[in-house]
Amino acid sequence: MVQNPGVPLCLIPTTSGTGSETTQAIVVDDPESGTKKAIWDRHVIPQVVIVDPDLTIGMPARLTADTGLDALVHGIEAYTARSTNPVVQAYARECIELVTKHLPVAVKNGKDINARSGMSLAATLGGLAISNGGLGAIHGLAYPLDTVKHIPHGRSVAIMAPWVVDFNRIGNEDTYARIARFLGKDVDNLDYREASQKAVKGIIDLMESVGVSPYLTDHDILASEVDDLAKEAFRVSQRLLPANPRKITEDDAMSIYRAAATPK
Ligand SMILES: [Fe+2]
Repeated sequence: MVQNPGVPLCLIPTTSGTGSETTQAIVVDDPESGTKKAIWDRHVIPQVVIVDPDLTIGMPARLTADTGLDALVHGIEAYTARSTNPVVQAYARECIELVTKHLPVAVKNGKDINARSGMSLAATLGGLAISNGGLGAIHGLAYPLDTVKHIPHGRSVAIMAPWVVDFNRIGNEDTYARIARFLGKDVDNLDYREASQKAVKGIIDLMESVGVSPYLTDHDILASEVDDLAKEAFRVSQRLLPANPRKITEDDAMSIYRAAATPK
């Protein structure tokens, strides 16, 4: 909680990912405890935001990929959260479609202003979507990858995304079938179960198209470490798990981490 309004804020993003300039959240690293602390209050919403894609032109390809995948996950989590609503879903859908279309181009050619503009808009819409719709187990379970293993935030959530979506689609297959379509997959002649599997494939395909492996073991994490990481993730992510579309236990977190560790 922030008790009082602070000085007026004008925020100008220079990446296309977190969308934090449009959220009521501030996240800070606490090096002493090795955790991230979140402040969530309407008083931290800025009065003015200037989103200028020209300011993102200089981002290296790796940073473009990592931050852009964060925006993708914001769209997916806000669209599917228990706390979502139709207005949030409109923002989230547009966010997912923009990332699918523009991220591979922005990574390949950072000077492509059309792709950079698409990604700036995607990040802005993703920020609005999570600020009003919430997040879920993808961000929740990725916490220790950020804080313990020091993997950049966007890459961390992207690695967990296919495996959490594969878990979440059970009981929510129609929702994830729509996500598959937003990710550019043809699901016209598939039933909901098959179509929802395409959402997992769509995320993996997009990640691989920008050079990010969906497997923990490709990010210097040993298979023998994943159970401890899963336990830590479940412990620290209780704030985010209630909004996840499927109830998740510590055993589930362990299964998700093991799936993420094993190339199929
Ligand atoms: Fe994020």
